[in-house]
Amino acid sequence: MQTQVFDVLIRGAEVIDGRKRPRFKADVGIRGTVIAALGDLSAAQADKVVDARGKIVAPGFIDAHSHDDQALLLQPQMGFKLSQGVTAVVTGNCGISVAPLYPDSPMPAPLNLLSDAATRFSTFEAYLQALRASPPAIHVIPLVGHTTLRVRAMADLDRAANPPEMAAMQALLREALAAGAVGLSSGTYYPPAAAASTQELCKLAQPLAEFGALYVSHMRDEAAHSQQSIAETFKIGQRAQASVIISHHKLQGQANWGNSAQTLPQIEAAMRRQCVSLDCYPYHASSTILHLQEERLSGRIVIADSAAHPELQGQELGDIARRWQVSRAEASARLQPASAIYFNMDERDVQRILAFGPTMIGSDGVPSNERPHPRLWGTFPRVLGHYSRDLGLFPLETAVWKMTGLTAEVFGIDKRGVLAEGHYADLCVFDPQTVRDTATFDDPKQPAAGIDCVIVNGAIAYEQGVYLGSRTGTVLQRTVPAKTSPGLQALPDPASSL
Ligand code: ZN
Ligand code: CU
Repeated sequence: MQTQVFDVLIRGAEVIDGRKRPRFKADVGIRGTVIAALGDLSAAQADKVVDARGKIVAPGFIDAHSHDDQALLLQPQMGFKLSQGVTAVVTGNCGISVAPLYPDSPMPAPLNLLSDAATRFSTFEAYLQALRASPPAIHVIPLVGHTTLRVRAMADLDRAANPPEMAAMQALLREALAAGAVGLSSGTYYPPAAAASTQELCKLAQPLAEFGALYVSHMRDEAAHSQQSIAETFKIGQRAQASVIISHHKLQGQANWGNSAQTLPQIEAAMRRQCVSLDCYPYHASSTILHLQEERLSGRIVIADSAAHPELQGQELGDIARRWQVSRAEASARLQPASAIYFNMDERDVQRILAFGPTMIGSDGVPSNERPHPRLWGTFPRVLGHYSRDLGLFPLETAVWKMTGLTAEVFGIDKRGVLAEGHYADLCVFDPQTVRDTATFDDPKQPAAGIDCVIVNGAIAYEQGVYLGSRTGTVLQRTVPAKTSPGLQALPDPASSL
């Protein structure tokens, strides 16, 4: 028998394959961009051998929710993701995408988190061309944002779109979908899209069905009116015959703590009649623009960035307002433009949502912030280490599935997210004993511990804390849209739970 030869050989690891199956022992042989063999490869040879005894090899993690649109071009090494084992990111979330925008388009918050004017593109095709011409270290799964379309097509954002504006937005949406956007995101919570009616979104979303594309929603309300917002999101998906994703599901504001006990059954019921999924980040604090409305400024709020008062970064809004002897709303107005971290969720809701069968993991990190939320650097190892290993919220196999196989199924990404022969070699080798997030609210730009080796399309991109400079990321396409809600099988049979 001939000796098998590989480009890269991962020896001695236990495989967690991203299908939620129990781990098993196998070597992984890579040739070119593909996993060529899986099994006992002790007789094989390779140019590069990764000794992974005692370690886990899993599919590379897919970040279901990001704001990395510009970072992929500006920081193509993508260290804050690669160092977590992430090999693909969804971009354009919360209604905010970098295309189609003109270089001089108005950038009302939160669109201004795409702060670099040189990497905005007037067509979606131009954005994807730029990524292909200057590839990042990891793959991209792009969404086009409703807020971006509004800014591009409407002169006045304080009302619903009129018929000519609707037609213009639909044409731009079609251009994006034809170029390769996998769906439409919206963020009606934020002022530039808050005046959009349900009707506007139902109508705009019409082309999604034809492309088999997704509707992804940062909902109008994640506090007292969560259930109405969830119902609105499902309605838009139903009218457009599109699969729906509820972004970063959470319950904000102390008065609403515990309400995940109602929202999750509501989501579960919808999953049985239409295609629905959701993502979540593993922290009980959120991060976004510093709001101006008094009702959005309760609880502990830490200033992450302030252009007007950079010296107040890291301080609490309540303290600043007291010192200035003004209301929180007034203090917020003086700090603009600014972003903040809001300690406004209940840890029990976070855990219930993370543990909910069909929930995917998404970071929602914002790389342009000076002092980012630690989720930017810590999300994936935090789920593996803190929530799965240390708290025992779910088995490691489930944790991996929530960031690989499940996510690939939701986004319709073929031959990734599951570690199998013939699939692309996007892989993460990690130590199940030591993997953990080290990024904190005080010191947020810290790479994870326990991530040994990350491989993107067959190339080793990160090994033992060193970025190797490979830039093998591609723009991924949605090829196999799911027919039923992905992850439904993770839920109890409704008959047996009666
Ligand atoms: Zn959002
Ligand atoms: Cu987001």
